[in-house]
Amino acid sequence: MIALTELALPLIVAPMTKVSGPELTIAACRGGVIGSFPTHNAHSTEELGSWLTRISAADLRIPFAANVIAHRSNGRRDEDVACLIEHGVELVIASVGAPGPIVEPLHRAGCQVYADVASLRHVDRALESGVDGLVLLTAGAGGQTGWANPFSFVRAVRARFDGPIVLAGGISDGAALWAARVLGADLGYMGTKFIATTESLAGDEYRSALVDATMDDVTTSAKLTGLPTNVLRSWLESVDGEQANGGFDQQRLLDPRDAWSAGHSVSGVTETRTAPDLIAQTRQEYEHARKQTLAIATD
Ligand SMILES: Cc1cc2nc3c(=O)[nH]c(=O)nc-3n(C[C@H](O)[C@H](O)[C@H](O)COP(=O)(O)O)c2cc1C
Repeated sequence: MIALTELALPLIVAPMTKVSGPELTIAACRGGVIGSFPTHNAHSTEELGSWLTRISAADLRIPFAANVIAHRSNGRRDEDVACLIEHGVELVIASVGAPGPIVEPLHRAGCQVYADVASLRHVDRALESGVDGLVLLTAGAGGQTGWANPFSFVRAVRARFDGPIVLAGGISDGAALWAARVLGADLGYMGTKFIATTESLAGDEYRSALVDATMDDVTTSAKLTGLPTNVLRSWLESVDGEQANGGFDQQRLLDPRDAWSAGHSVSGVTETRTAPDLIAQTRQEYEHARKQTLAIATD
């Protein structure tokens, strides 16, 4: 388990396709939270190796996480995992598909593995394959969304698992992050809020669209990856007429077109700013909410 006491906030800046690379990961860790990126954001395993060398040269105090798509359509999966092992990565987050095939080699190398889950069936499957922690994808998340209510999901998982739980979906500020802790999660994921930071790989048009959008502009579509994904309605209108195919395919993620994915927390995106700035504000909100809880408790 990662030592939460070392963190400025119990937060992972979520891995995001075409958004998170070394710069955002380093900025997040320097801000005192766990940064992360999907390995497929590097164009090759060789480039992944140079990203990892760059991150380790930054001499970070806080660990970062690499996200690996476990699905069989990820043709680079085993090669990327070998590269992560070679570079001594401490935490891998497995998403899409059963995590089993990557758990054993990573564990042998002393790396912890967390897995994305969206249902109790996924939880059972992930725990059977020996993962160390769970990322609970819930309704309103950016990217491939979950559908479960976070209140019910965290409590149901807590009843059967006492290891690390990360809550993902709609955490839009420090108060929501504190609420996740009160609910029983150890950490929260924030994705959408960090897309508009200056360190992300997102283009200017996408950032401005996020600043202008509210949660009412978010809709769910399978057109992006083949699985239900939360996107901005304006992006969906631009691909009107294209068919959604059934099932996930990693190739769709790597489509060179921009895709404007966002979750309900887009209502909290009000400007483009630096990641340390956003983390500092989230920390203030978190502390404020924590004190409010004490005031409510003594009412
Ligand atoms: C643009 C975008 C791309 C994403 N890409 C990935 C990805 O490659 N791998 C992954 O595990 N999750 C991905 N996600 C999901 C996030 O890791 C995370 O679950 C989600 O952003 C949390 O919800 P929030 O956006 O409401 O904070 C993506 C999310 C967004 C918004």
